[in-house]
Amino acid sequence: MSTADPDPRPERDRETVRVELGPRSYDVVVGAGLVGEAGRLMAPLLAGRSAVVITDRVVAGHYLDAALNSLREAGFLCSQLVVDAGEQSKDLATLGGVLENILGRGIERSTALVALGGGVVGDLTGFAASILLRGIPFVQIPTTLLAQVDSGVGGKTGVNSTLGKNLIGTFYQPRLVLADVATLDTLPLRERRAGYAEVVKYGLIDDPAFFAWLERNDAALLDGDPDALRTAVAHSCRAKARIVADDERESGNRALLNLGHTFAHALEAEAGYDGSLLHGEAVAYGMVLAHRLSAALGLCSEGDAARVAAHFRAVGLPGEADALPAIRWNSAALIERMKHDKKVRDGRMTFVLTRGIGRAFLSRDVPLDALRTVLDQAFGEGGLSAPR
Ligand code: NAD
Ligand code: GLY
Repeated sequence: MSTADPDPRPERDRETVRVELGPRSYDVVVGAGLVGEAGRLMAPLLAGRSAVVITDRVVAGHYLDAALNSLREAGFLCSQLVVDAGEQSKDLATLGGVLENILGRGIERSTALVALGGGVVGDLTGFAASILLRGIPFVQIPTTLLAQVDSGVGGKTGVNSTLGKNLIGTFYQPRLVLADVATLDTLPLRERRAGYAEVVKYGLIDDPAFFAWLERNDAALLDGDPDALRTAVAHSCRAKARIVADDERESGNRALLNLGHTFAHALEAEAGYDGSLLHGEAVAYGMVLAHRLSAALGLCSEGDAARVAAHFRAVGLPGEADALPAIRWNSAALIERMKHDKKVRDGRMTFVLTRGIGRAFLSRDVPLDALRTVLDQAFGEGGLSAPR
């Protein structure tokens, strides 16, 4: 780059994806260095010049100062609110504290909330924005790979109930999403891998060429290569934007984004949300099981199911049950969990099945026997797995 270049981060290093939702449309900007430009990029989209940045303690240590400085330079009056890191912050008690705290600052309808963090901060902040003063603007600055490719885009917000994950929430779209891939430098490898599972999901839903690209570029992505990351994050956001534009409130095809999730939610619940099994790890193995179930039903080839499992094994995600936490997995208990998933309608379980890599579809006609057989094969006859 010449020293005369006025922009140290030229536009060619940025990709902008539009989420087309009529008056609620917004851009997802993908590139490196966006935290430092947040104020400049947000300012034209917001009527007011006051903002509260919500983040967690870990992310605050890395990026809060840069975000606040950028907002102040752009003329925002801003303050911060820091919650504990981790899924336990996505609960009604934390939400209540956040709401009271923000109201105590004397906010107005034009005050914006800025979610700086992973999916926990994004879901919590989006929910708070959707109900404070009956709705105030919010901006997502996702800092995990999972949040950049999935939770930061599409407007699902919420917290967990004691009865299950994400049972309390709203659909509420952000005004802007800034996916700064440079923030992924500090993300632990295990978290990066977990987010990678959600990237693979887009290939498996309807994009076999993207899956093949990931098979060739997995190492670059997980090593943090900025070009590979920008390409993969932008491609994933385009896929998600298309699906959300078509079905914002999940009355149809948006449910394809739940590929592997019916299994994953049951696995996570059985593991006990103690950090031993991350959401993305559960989703990876859930997608393997979805392909195995599809193969057992004669819908896709065993070869495709094996290819998915091999890819996850190759990147250090669970491709087999022996890579899951060493608890006594039980098919019957997993099936009971699946029956309580929020995707159950009229007592019938909804699964995303597939006719092959990149050919996913929704099914509400999965025979229980086939499901039990696939789980028994995965975890051992009778449903018990040998602990590692
Ligand atoms: P997370 O927000 O808990 O972040 C994971 C960990 O990484 C945390 O400890 C966090 O402090 C740390 N972290 C975040 N960014 C970092 C960075 N740049 N450097 C170093 N550490 C960093 O978890 P997540 O995986 O991002 O999100 C999971 C949540 O997202 C779940 O609650 C899930 O239900 C939700 N989710 C929501 C949607 C949606 O559509 N709204 C979709 C998928 C998942
Ligand atoms: N993460 C699933 C969705 O946004 O619909």
